[in-house]
Amino acid sequence: MKRKLYLETFGCQMNVLDSELVLGQLRAHGYESTEDRDRADVILYNTCSVREHAEQKVWSRLGELRPQKQQRPELVIGVIGCMAERDGVDLFRRYPHVDLLCGPGELDKLTQLVHNAVVTGSDRPRQTALMGSNTRRSATLAAAEDNLELLDLSRSINSEDDVAQAYVRITRGCNKFCSYCVVPYTRGPEVHRPPQNIIDEVKRLADVGVREVTLLGQTVNHYHFRHDDGRQTTFAQLLYDIHEAVPHLPRLRFVTSFPRDFTNEALAAMRDCPRICRYLHAPAQHGSDRILKSMNRGYTAGQYYDFVDRAREMMSDISIASDFIVGFPGETEDDFELTMEMVRRCRFKNSFIFKYSPRPGTVAIDRFVDDVSDADKRSRNNRLLAVQQEVSESINRQMIDQTVRVLVEGESKLVSRQAANTGKVELGWEKRPVALAADETQMVGRTPGDQVVVFSGPLSLKGQLVDVRINGAKNLTLFGEYCGSKSPRQTSSITAGSTIAHSV
Ligand code: SAH
Ligand code: SF4
Ligand code: F3S
Repeated sequence: MKRKLYLETFGCQMNVLDSELVLGQLRAHGYESTEDRDRADVILYNTCSVREHAEQKVWSRLGELRPQKQQRPELVIGVIGCMAERDGVDLFRRYPHVDLLCGPGELDKLTQLVHNAVVTGSDRPRQTALMGSNTRRSATLAAAEDNLELLDLSRSINSEDDVAQAYVRITRGCNKFCSYCVVPYTRGPEVHRPPQNIIDEVKRLADVGVREVTLLGQTVNHYHFRHDDGRQTTFAQLLYDIHEAVPHLPRLRFVTSFPRDFTNEALAAMRDCPRICRYLHAPAQHGSDRILKSMNRGYTAGQYYDFVDRAREMMSDISIASDFIVGFPGETEDDFELTMEMVRRCRFKNSFIFKYSPRPGTVAIDRFVDDVSDADKRSRNNRLLAVQQEVSESINRQMIDQTVRVLVEGESKLVSRQAANTGKVELGWEKRPVALAADETQMVGRTPGDQVVVFSGPLSLKGQLVDVRINGAKNLTLFGEYCGSKSPRQTSSITAGSTIAHSV
């Protein structure tokens, strides 16, 4: 009988992709996945350490498992991903019922660790594979990298999977060492994958019907691969190469971009290739030069504004999203006002806003006092959110009466919840009850600029690219009417008052 595996994923897209890869490996070794944690033989958490809150969620999951482990000592509990790497064996002290730890840089070893834990039974020795904080920068790095590359290459891509969207890693790790951030310690130094491996992977995904590939890297636009003969493939070249080699892929995107690393060539590649989505997630983190300096971001607010201007000059319809940290040590009201100003001026499509969370092992926790009170952090978070919401709503309202191309992700969660609770559906931008035909529901999808669109249509549209005419807008959502299959394939997106049509 196959052993049952329960895997829950926290954190960023990298972790989502890692989970897909390890699941594929474990399936190939005789495990089957289950949604039912209580009936699993192996429970794995793929974790995130970026803020304390992300870790708290996993601590509470592990706490819940104590009684289960007492009742079923043969149950295998594993913590994998960034928190395993950051906490290391300390985690065993706090949670002695955990059997295995595996960092994100060692996931090629996970199948072996799980197997060892399963076969050795309830008095098993603990299994660990960690790269050890920030030390693996020597010869062993190359070997470990080769193994990680094999893990990426092992990806099982089947036409039966019927998925419309997929992630493809292009860069592992990060070298930026922003003073607040754990990622360079948990994921190790930056390594770029060989371009041909990336292109082949994108091609295999498109061959089985994937409609949108998102290239992943912590600083994705910093990609550069040095070939044995000394030639370099830059990020811009990689974009052109994928676009040309995989003409049957309707949409290509990438996250997360580092603002300082954006070359005009990379922006030109986005402009020149119609199937590359005109969307940038390029976190600014702050609007004050003083704070940007203590964050070690390596650019000033002025340089960030220049980057946004450059991007908009080349593509007036580009949609830009950002991340911000509020309450960083030493942040005054004046500093914070500069962040507010940046959101107003840059007109981001949306911003992810985080309260500063001091992380053990980072430079910021050692060097700076976490001196902004929690009340001030909360208030700044709310004020920044309010400004961003105004900006987002005004950008979205400019979409009204436009027809946009939407990749349909599935049924709107809100609707399925409402329908389950009340039997009625009340959605649409005016919050009026929506009359649905018998075979229709509320579907949700995204524009090339990453705007969320809700519209009525049949479930069969899931995974399709369709045209929707926008008739309402809120700050997080556009609402529209499905144009049917015979509508024109032209799409348009609009940002900051200008429109350009292109087909994605
Ligand atoms: N590589 C990406 C971000 C990865 S982490 C980049 O550099 O843009 C995702 C986001 O979490 C960051 O953009 C930052 O806004 C936030 N973040 C990271 N560390 C944090 C911390 N210690 N406290 C609060 N937010 C943090
Ligand atoms: Fe963290 Fe900075 Fe690297 Fe992003 S660029 S992962 S914020 S160190
Ligand atoms: Fe979290 Fe690790 Fe991603 S810390 S944000 S899961 S790289």
